[in-house]
Amino acid sequence: MFNRGGGSIIAAVDQGTTSTRCILFDHNGERAGLSQLEHRQIMPRPGWVEHDPRELWANTRRVLADVTANSEHPATDIAALGITNQRETTVVWDKDTGEPVYNAIVWQDTRTSEMCQRLEQEVGSERISRVTGLPISTYFSGPKIAWILDNVDGARERAEKGDLLFGTVDSWLVWNLTRRDGRALHATDVTNASRTMLMNLETLEWDEELCNAMGIPMSMLPTIVSSSQYLGKVRWSGPVSGVPIGGILGDQQAATFGQACLEPGEAKNTYGTGNFLLLNTGTVPQRSDHGLITTVAYRIGEEMPAYALEGSIAVTGSLVQWLRDNLGLIPNAPAVETLAETVEDNGGCFIVPAFSGLLAPHWRPDARGVIVGLTRYVNKGHIARAALEATAYQTREVVEAMNADSGVPLSTLRVDGGMTGNDLLMQFQADVLGVDVTRPVITETTALGAAYAAGLAVGFWESTDEIRTMWREDCTFTPKMPESERDRLFSRWGDAVQRTLDWES
Ligand SMILES: Nc1ncnc2c1ncn2[C@@H]1O[C@H](COP(=O)(O)OP(=O)(O)OP(=O)(O)O)[C@@H](O)[C@H]1O
Ligand SMILES: [Mg+2]
Repeated sequence: MFNRGGGSIIAAVDQGTTSTRCILFDHNGERAGLSQLEHRQIMPRPGWVEHDPRELWANTRRVLADVTANSEHPATDIAALGITNQRETTVVWDKDTGEPVYNAIVWQDTRTSEMCQRLEQEVGSERISRVTGLPISTYFSGPKIAWILDNVDGARERAEKGDLLFGTVDSWLVWNLTRRDGRALHATDVTNASRTMLMNLETLEWDEELCNAMGIPMSMLPTIVSSSQYLGKVRWSGPVSGVPIGGILGDQQAATFGQACLEPGEAKNTYGTGNFLLLNTGTVPQRSDHGLITTVAYRIGEEMPAYALEGSIAVTGSLVQWLRDNLGLIPNAPAVETLAETVEDNGGCFIVPAFSGLLAPHWRPDARGVIVGLTRYVNKGHIARAALEATAYQTREVVEAMNADSGVPLSTLRVDGGMTGNDLLMQFQADVLGVDVTRPVITETTALGAAYAAGLAVGFWESTDEIRTMWREDCTFTPKMPESERDRLFSRWGDAVQRTLDWES
């Protein structure tokens, strides 16, 4: 019904932690165009990470303009636009001027640790977890909103008068894309809302008591919508003006959708800035006893939502960036593989990148990173290898938690994201897990999932069955390491993790 003259492609904007992409997909789910721009990482103090929301919106406009200018498909060929985004990152802006009152506070930022301790005492982790599916952590948006209201001059007063709006990055972009003549759509989808620590996981509505406990006026909050539904047309007077917006998904949920994990028991692991393993658990939220999060996987139109168990790891690919940018050990990310190949093994060295504490399954804000096992023997090849191995061990920790929660051991792991181009890492991952690791042809599953959601909403694709048929395997890595070696290495990893704990008070 909303299919604009039967356009032949879907556009997805993937606003991530390090960059913004716009990718065009054709009806077969194949890539028909890409434009990408990095943005600044603003780190005013240790533990603080910010982005400039105006830069995120400017880069979104630019990638949309570039991809349509450089593709063989004119903008009029776009049947719908899907949005996917870095999750939890928090923006507060003025509803009249559109000016953000502060930089976006990024998911990795730990400045709200005191507020989280207070919530622990005043509300308690049991209640918060029962309502939201989440542990109390600086990771989530709610405390970040409260920090802005408490620390920006006049912000609380303006918020209480109803002049300020909150949104995760999806809301910020949709609001700007649909803004015209003083009106704009202020919405977020269920997956993003489920990361705020403010949404009731079962009713899919904002929880008044939690908003009160954090001192957040409910008038600031966006309307919660489905992940795949017609939302409105782009009103920004750029190249995609008039294109229907058909879907919003947080990046990890989008990757789950893009990997066609659409049935209970299906899981994917995305290797990007961090790693995020999501297991589809069906229409009833399942609680974790082993340090995983319960989250919304997606909701299509008026259907029942699908839930997921998630293992979130903060630092994986960003450790490779740290080797590149902070240590100058490699010129670019793929060079870590070449450097790691100069040695046979890690030489006894382990790196635990607890840069801002540890997320799943430990949830230890007091942890900080360590490099252990150093001897005169260790060289930069071993460091590169230990950095890659860290990703694989952290993944095994969340896979073990997932197996324990679900009672059904994972038989293969579907992977995607930038780091999965690294064959050495993928082989080591299979070795350290003892299960097959399967990589699809399209590893840009985040954008693909948002495209699927938008395409379904406008009838570009018929059903999730059609989406399932589009998934294609690239290759499978099979475990080769002897079990005794796998267990020895993972046990040493556990010893290294112990050494990160109790560092910060
Ligand atoms: N060949 C490689 N080997 C190891 N790490 C790599 C390789 N190529 C890319 N990376 C790492 O993968 C990450 C980029 O992957 P990807 O583009 O999927 O990230 P992302 O998480 O989607 O980014 P964003 O956070 O912006 O969404 C970077 O952290 C980079 O260091
Ligand atoms: Mg990403």
